[in-house]
Amino acid sequence: MPDFIVTPWEVSGEVDYDLLIQEFGIEAIDEKLLFNLKEITKEIHPYLRRKIFFAHRDFKWILQEYKKGNPFYLYTGRGPSGNIHLGHLLPWIFTKWIQEKFNVDLWFQLTDDEKFLFNQSITLEETHNFGYDNALDVIALGFNPKKTYIFSDIDLGNTFYRNALKIAKKITYSTIKATFGLDNSANIGQIFYTSIQTVPAILKSLIEEKNVPCLIPHAVDQDPHFRLSRDVLPKLGYYKPASIQCVFLPSLQESGKMSASVENTAIFTKDEPDVVKRKVNNAFTGGQANAKLQRELGGNPSVCSVYKYHFMLFTLDDNEIKKIQSKCIGGELLCGECKKDLIQKINKFLSEHQKQREKAKDVLEDYLLKEKVDLKSLINEKKRKWNY
Ligand code: TRP
Repeated sequence: MPDFIVTPWEVSGEVDYDLLIQEFGIEAIDEKLLFNLKEITKEIHPYLRRKIFFAHRDFKWILQEYKKGNPFYLYTGRGPSGNIHLGHLLPWIFTKWIQEKFNVDLWFQLTDDEKFLFNQSITLEETHNFGYDNALDVIALGFNPKKTYIFSDIDLGNTFYRNALKIAKKITYSTIKATFGLDNSANIGQIFYTSIQTVPAILKSLIEEKNVPCLIPHAVDQDPHFRLSRDVLPKLGYYKPASIQCVFLPSLQESGKMSASVENTAIFTKDEPDVVKRKVNNAFTGGQANAKLQRELGGNPSVCSVYKYHFMLFTLDDNEIKKIQSKCIGGELLCGECKKDLIQKINKFLSEHQKQREKAKDVLEDYLLKEKVDLKSLINEKKRKWNY
């Protein structure tokens, strides 16, 4: 048994992504695929070169259809149970790149229902409100307002319920147990939930009244949901959604991914500069016990969380990252200096992000889709009409 766990509800241990490719039956992103992509995009995002986006399902088909004049749309999402940290931004940064390069729509799902069902201590109002808060971080990244639709599942209750029903009817309880490992203590909403996460994969097809290919950029833990979507949707006459999948941003501590539930392991987009400084200075590194040993023996970037933050988010220039790596291994670069550089880069990024986040409050409504199903006003309307 591998000593790591990756499910939509739990990610723990040191994830072996090669093993995961086999286990999940996803495909590694290879040079040939990148070559095909580059024909269209002219450049390759560092996340692809660095295998941060490392696997896919049917991405090749998405490119083929695009070339034939059958463009796709993007779908991704967020389970709003708390504040946004840097790890959450990773797939969204890449999604924005794809949106720009292909000039396509993005449909962004806020699964307030999911977090309500799976998190014992949160109320529906809380997850719903976190959704709007988290949407500000999405908007702050600069998604095109004309091509980006953000919605909470309960705000689109009518559309979601109608379509989730059709999907749910094609999925058995035993499939859910086998896919997610839910047992008899699961509440019945949890068993139903995956049908909700499938709906956005057909939303644009419903609106256009013809099949539109859908590409889902996501962290690899969400693959079990979309594996089911791919089973079910052809039975309802739709395309299988394609996906492109990324690794997790590691924790600032020794192992595991960055987690919102363990404060010191994550940097939040709302963190102040001194908080960032404290967290990075306390981070687990691949350095030696002291400067003298570091100069003699060199550090180990492959286990270092500070290096991983440079590599995955803040030092995307290939020459610059190579320099950090070789200077670290050669003992020239000490951890203090490397941390200082990272702190500066993070704080520069966050100061701009926080500014954009404030501005996003004024335009939030331009991005949000809501169905106004207000039963009370329907009743009042009827009462007015009949005068009772
Ligand atoms: N279930 C995801 C989470 O807990 C949220 C989500 C919904 C999502 N739809 C998605 C993530 C599509 C990626 C792609 O965070």
